[in-house]
Formats: sequence, structure tokens, C-alpha cells
Amino acid sequence: MKLPRRFFQPLALGAPQPLREQPVRLERMIHFVPPHLAKMRAKLPELAGQVDVVLGNLEDAIPADQKIEARQGFIAMAREAELGSTGLWIRMNALNSPWALDDLVEIVGAVGAKLDVVMVPKVEGAWDVHYVDQLLAQLEARHRIGRPIGIHAILETAEGVKNVDDIASASPRLHGMSLGPADLAASRGMKTTRVGGGHPDYRVLADAGPQGSARAGAQQDLWHYTVARMVDACQANGIKAFYGPFGDFSDPEACEAQFRNAFLMGCVGAWSLHPSQIAIAKRVFSPDPGEVAFARRIMAAMPDGTGAVMIDGKMQDDATWKQARVICDLADLVAAKDGATA
Ligand code: GLV
Ligand code: MG
Repeated sequence: MKLPRRFFQPLALGAPQPLREQPVRLERMIHFVPPHLAKMRAKLPELAGQVDVVLGNLEDAIPADQKIEARQGFIAMAREAELGSTGLWIRMNALNSPWALDDLVEIVGAVGAKLDVVMVPKVEGAWDVHYVDQLLAQLEARHRIGRPIGIHAILETAEGVKNVDDIASASPRLHGMSLGPADLAASRGMKTTRVGGGHPDYRVLADAGPQGSARAGAQQDLWHYTVARMVDACQANGIKAFYGPFGDFSDPEACEAQFRNAFLMGCVGAWSLHPSQIAIAKRVFSPDPGEVAFARRIMAAMPDGTGAVMIDGKMQDDATWKQARVICDLADLVAAKDGATA
């Protein structure tokens, strides 16, 4: 365990000072782009105004024989990109793949100054974060990059979930974490074939009633436990939690329900893999105007955030004031970025 005073020292001579607080940014959706496809790269200017984060995907879903094209495509895309306040990320290949090292060396070397965050797949423990952390510091120093590139871990293995607290506190470079339900299902030996979302057989059945009467049952959330652990690990370390992919593009209602559960439990965003999911994420991860209005009433009624007041018959105290603060801060961020929602 590193001494606290060494935790915030740069890991390479000439690397930028690690951040003490993550920058305040709106990241309701991390929009995935397959950068080996010129047609998809060409959509970037139009996309940049619609999404909070554009991510060049180099890992799963990119065919093995197109990995180099994807990396080069991302570099070309990043060189041309004028993104304003929209974030630019990559999802690198997994650390046990033959592509991971060159993903970082080549991309940071070419466009590191424009890159906000590296998403690292299949993070199993703090050791994976330390490896990328050290390498990024060396590359930042070599290429004189003036601000640290963030690391975002995907939580998608059983071992990663076991070590989620150590991952979240492994480095000041940690930006946040996303749930990866598809790989996690495989790693856990779950009996599903889906990318996120629920399953009709995972349900709780009401007690048996009189002979012959129908028994009510309700589908449960397969991801509740993992999202809760991830949110606690992230919030305890001042980093952000995200729900990851929802693969059934034909079911926007289920996608919205999954995103909303994550939002209510503390996640700040989700991945959009299809253009139709951008609007869903925007709707879900922007606070509800009614909630914002109520939160503002709480803040106004308790200017210093202490004591207790009644509003519409509901008790408010220091704890609800803090919840109201989260909603008002988010509303201010959304209003600043997104005129239509403001
Ligand atoms: C995402 O990478 C997942 O495996 O769900
Ligand atoms: Mg995965």
C-alpha cells in the first residue's frame, strides 16, 4: 500500500500532476463508434453535438483482422475532431491481448493531448490499473502532455467484482467504472445469452393461494447487486459509476428501464451503442424537471442545509438537502450543455 503522500505523485519524470478531484463533466452517454469503418467516422461532426462522450471502440465487436485499421481510424478521427465540450475516449483492447500495448503507445503518441479517458476492459484487480497508470505516465512525459489522461475500468469479470473496492481506489487517475453485463455474465457462468437487461426466468413468485388460483410473479433485476457494489465503490472514492451496454436495440422500453434503475441507484450515465439509445440516455440521465423544481424548493427552504422543514407534507432535513444538491448540480450541468433540455 502506497503512503498517502506518495499517492498523488506523478509516476514518471515530466508527467503531469495527478488530479485530486475528477473534472466536473456531463457524461450521460458514452457513445461507441467503430473507428475501422470510414462511414461511421464520417458521422463524427454531426454526432459531436448530440452526445456527451464519443468513444472509439478498439476491443470486442471489432474483428481481430481489423484491429490495426480501428486504431489508425481512431487516430485519423481524433486528429480532425473539433469536439468542444464533448469528451473523447477510447476503449483499448484487453491487457492480455496482443494489441493493448500498441493501442496506448500509438494513440497517446499521436493524439494524446486530445484524449480524455482510456476505458480499460476486463479489469480484474488494482494491478491492472497500476500497469496502465504507469504506462500512461511514461507516455505523457515522453509526449509532453499537459494534463493526465483518465482511466475508466469496465467491471465485467467475477474477479473484478470481488476486487471492486481495490480497483476504485487504485489510482488518482481513475475516472470511473462501467458495468459490463455481457462479459460478466460469461465470467460468472450465468445461463443467459444477452447483452444486459433482465431475463424473464429471473423472478420472484408470490406464495401459493387457494387451489387453482393464479400466482403473481415479478421479474427481478439481475444486475442490482453488482450495480450497488459498483456505485458504493465509486462514490466512496470520488469517481463515477455507469451502466454499460444494452444490446437489444429493438426494445427501447427495456433499455430505458435498465438505464433508469442505474440512474436511480447512483449511476451518472450509460453506453449508447445505437443512435436510438442517445435520446434514451439523455432522457434518463438528465434529472426530471418536477424533481428539479422540488429540489430547488428544498434548497431555498433550508439555505444553510441544516434543520428540518415540511414541504407538501414531506419532512426535509440535512440528508434530503444533500440529495437535492445532487439533483440541482446535475440540472445546472445539463442546462449549461444542452439548450433543448435546459
Ligand atoms: C461490455 O463490454 C460487456 O461485456 O458487457
Ligand atoms: Mg465486455
